[in-house]
Amino acid sequence: MARIFIKPDGIVIFRAFSFEGIGMGIKKIGIMTSGGDGPGMNAAIRSVVRCSLSSDLKVDGIIRGYQGLIDDDVISLGHRSVSNIINRGGTILKTARSDEFKTEKGQKIAVRTLKKHKIDALVVIGGDGSYAGAQVLFEKHSIPTIGLPGTIDNDLCGTDQTIGCRTAVNTALEAIDKIRDTAHSMERIFVIEVMGNHSGYIALEVALGAGAEDVIIPERAFDYESLCEHIVEGNKKGKISWMIIVAEGAAKAPDVAERIGKITKLETRFVVLGHVQRGGVPIGADRILATRLGAKAVDLLLEGTYGKAVGIHEDEIHVVDLPVACKRENKNVDEYLRLIKLLR
Ligand code: F6P
Repeated sequence: MARIFIKPDGIVIFRAFSFEGIGMGIKKIGIMTSGGDGPGMNAAIRSVVRCSLSSDLKVDGIIRGYQGLIDDDVISLGHRSVSNIINRGGTILKTARSDEFKTEKGQKIAVRTLKKHKIDALVVIGGDGSYAGAQVLFEKHSIPTIGLPGTIDNDLCGTDQTIGCRTAVNTALEAIDKIRDTAHSMERIFVIEVMGNHSGYIALEVALGAGAEDVIIPERAFDYESLCEHIVEGNKKGKISWMIIVAEGAAKAPDVAERIGKITKLETRFVVLGHVQRGGVPIGADRILATRLGAKAVDLLLEGTYGKAVGIHEDEIHVVDLPVACKRENKNVDEYLRLIKLLR
């Protein structure tokens, strides 16, 4: 839908970034990372920047996500700006969670900044909160936006995987393998808390990958009595160490450890892995995912398709409307829970 405005003096204005036409109005793309960072975000930035430049589009980077738009913290990005970052964790654009952008006033300032820098379209890399921001800009302010799924939580709809999740799971597994050594040597129960405030995805993956005895996630109630019975029975048969994974949003590791220790009367320790899971070198799968999704974001903008989130489904690029992608999705819960119990 082209946007035509007739001013009171009769002059007709054609809005450059309309919702149709083969990306006709877009000369400059803005890119930002928003919310919690994740390994692979830099690979996505690189892909968006280089694909844009190859199509003769200019690119500006917004520092600290939506807050950077409010603070007018915008830099120009060229080919060299994204050299040597495909293998780096974190985000060269920095990231933040902006309360100010949630207000109408903040949004107006953000739109003003986009106009000031002649940014015609925006690629937002982040989770559900970041997608919600991109949807507001698209729906309320007619800014062409595209979302890329950048969160370690893998809790978005419309994509099988989010950028950063696989690296985060690997990082947690490396740490848990080390904990297993000491757990076994000292004959202890270990409760390990991983990230995931609303989503148990990381916890489930980690529990399955680490061969843990049980997992506590926000999506399901947890039966402490049954786990403790299982532990005590196993102990009578000669089992000497146990790993219990807990998602941060379900319970706190110290409380879980205390409770299990009291019931089983076995020595129990806890570890909170925390932000270590968000950092580090992105594994190949995250770099490749980020690169593919970043390229598609630019393709969509060039063809004039806006207000979408780019994901992956059965190894094919999958595009959905931003509001659909915003919905949290808890993936594979029943299958993983069954397997963890079956294999312990
Ligand atoms: O980005 C997602 C996430 O890592 C969640 O798993 C976690 O609950 C949250 O961010 C932590 O946020 P912050 O770094 O702001 O404490």
